[in-house]
Amino acid sequence: MKRLFAMLLPMVFAAVTAAAQVPEASTACGPWVVDMTDDAFTVVWVSTGRSVGWVETAPDDGTSFYAEERPRHYEDLLGRHVVSRLHRVRVEGLEPGTAYRYRIYQQGVDDSGAIPVLGRPTASNVYSRKPYRVRTFDTSADVCRFTVVNDIHGRDSIFRALTADVTKRGVDFVAFNGDMSNLMASIEQQQEAYLTLASELFAADTPIVAVRGNHETRGAASVEFMNLFPNTSGKPYYMFRHGPAAFLVLDCGEDKPDSDIEYGGLAAYDAYREREAEWLRRTLQDDAFRSAAVRIVFLHVPPETGGWHGSREIMRLFVPLLNEAGVDIMLSGHLHLYDFVERGERGNDFPVLINSNDERLDIEVTPSRIAIDVVDATGKAVHRHEVAVKRR
Ligand SMILES: [Fe+2]
Repeated sequence: MKRLFAMLLPMVFAAVTAAAQVPEASTACGPWVVDMTDDAFTVVWVSTGRSVGWVETAPDDGTSFYAEERPRHYEDLLGRHVVSRLHRVRVEGLEPGTAYRYRIYQQGVDDSGAIPVLGRPTASNVYSRKPYRVRTFDTSADVCRFTVVNDIHGRDSIFRALTADVTKRGVDFVAFNGDMSNLMASIEQQQEAYLTLASELFAADTPIVAVRGNHETRGAASVEFMNLFPNTSGKPYYMFRHGPAAFLVLDCGEDKPDSDIEYGGLAAYDAYREREAEWLRRTLQDDAFRSAAVRIVFLHVPPETGGWHGSREIMRLFVPLLNEAGVDIMLSGHLHLYDFVERGERGNDFPVLINSNDERLDIEVTPSRIAIDVVDATGKAVHRHEVAVKRR
């Protein structure tokens, strides 16, 4: 026993000494909320150093966050809490259509040795500022409201002008419909391009629905897309439900042929879109999709027959399936110009609303209609559409 103590003592002493040396980690960017469902959501943020991150949740019941011990949620991988600069914490087991408050923590970790040493934890402020607050989706709700922006290309001022009042307007989510920056060079560049601002303005409280644009396929950090915007499907194409609607998030891939000089031989989007179409074919048969009164598609590049390769492939692979599935509307961007493609104009059995790069869409969905305001940077509605939902 004595021998064991003598052996362990230096290790404990080393650990205590090292604890003082572990750099303190704090929040560098975020949080932002993604993959909202009616019983779960994911909180994402970036810390200044390698750290273990966790989220504490509390009901939105007017109590102080300090009133009692709050449940902790971690990101685990193979049984161990993840140590990283990027934190992606899933909070599960929630009630639909219910508001929750939350707080984020991180604690610097030196796990270079066998026994990890942790520094002092830091957390978001729940004392002089209100805790973050989110509301879960509700598939039994009669109405849902959301905002769409696209083709921001890292332009701070237009992004701010279009989204500054999101929290005040109380929308259920904000869709980033592709090309939020010119490329994905690094996570830091994504922070600077729009994530820091998004978190400050609304995304800590209002969930993001991220749709991959062709510019998100470019750059050394394009592989980080699913890390910045994780969802339980693990793919940038997936389906979710909220209110009376089923939403299909589709991935356009690149707009030019895979062999184009711009892609340096790295592009393989033809085969990728074929696989996506197979997934789409199956998903459109799911009860979760078919039981929705309203069917809405997000797709950054709109379908075109006479357009570039990507949009022609979208027309060939996706549009016939979506026609058959009774889709009510597709929301697109990419062209940097507003257009409303009427049903039937391009072989599409649903209208395609193409939002410009300087305006946002404010959308309200009920079981019978989709009401859309196209709103400019001054807050003025410059176009209005009301789309009647198809009878099933
Ligand atoms: Fe684009």
